[in-house]
Amino acid sequence: MKLEFVALPNNVGSEIRGLDPREIRGMEEVALREAFLHNSVLLLRDAQLTPDSHLALTRILGDPEIHPMAKARPGQHPEIIEPSYPAEDSEDPDAIVGHIPWHADQTYTQRPPRGALLRAIEIPPEGGQTGFIDTAAVHEALPASMKVEIEGLELVHRLARAHRLLGLHHDDENARELADRFPDIAHPLVRVDPTSGIRSLDISPMFADAVVGWPTDRSDALLEDLRALSTQNRFVYWHDWKAGDLVIWNNYRTLHSAAGHKRRYVRTMNRTTIEGEVNGRRAA
Ligand code: SIN
Repeated sequence: MKLEFVALPNNVGSEIRGLDPREIRGMEEVALREAFLHNSVLLLRDAQLTPDSHLALTRILGDPEIHPMAKARPGQHPEIIEPSYPAEDSEDPDAIVGHIPWHADQTYTQRPPRGALLRAIEIPPEGGQTGFIDTAAVHEALPASMKVEIEGLELVHRLARAHRLLGLHHDDENARELADRFPDIAHPLVRVDPTSGIRSLDISPMFADAVVGWPTDRSDALLEDLRALSTQNRFVYWHDWKAGDLVIWNNYRTLHSAAGHKRRYVRTMNRTTIEGEVNGRRAA
């Protein structure tokens, strides 16, 4: 059967039909790699993957890496994480847990991943969506004057910003350890994909905290504008998961966010991460 690419809402990537991700060969591999490079998000419905086939599929797209925050799961592939989510303190079964603000993965490191593959295993009957934004489309839509203004700027990305936004508190020793392990990193605001040459906005709102060298009020104003522009409804696709779905995102041009769900429901996902190239430098 021939592969069919069907545009996702708001053109945030494509659903691929006609591909069995457990048995990809020959030209299908080539087509999948090309699609990964030229899309923000790829969706495969009812992919029926196991941990082994999930990892094998990841290897077609690049080298799997172990997430820096991975928790050991004895007997399981270390490259597969079961994302665990910040939980509300409340025991209220209707409290929303698992909300993760907009971000690109691991931009608080010098070498953020190239992409990730997220697979739905158990899905709550309501909530639990993941939102996606193609930041190459956002860059493309910017007024010409803004493209000129932001070209060449760098942003400081820091893990501490995410922990502040998520309300995670650390004792002094833990905070120092995290700061030593993950120092502030500067990345170009406009990311140029080294393989495709495609430009995108690297504004990872959960981690990007400031424009390098700019006074705080000017930096905050620009970042606020870029966040507001990027998260307009016309750029956002919220994926309503069904068990078995697989979403692959190109982390060089995608923001994603977890909507969260009521504590009373279970939501189990498996994720692999694809190693990327060095893009950032230690900020002074
Ligand atoms: C992630 O941010 O890696 C997970 C998103 C989700 O579970 O919806």
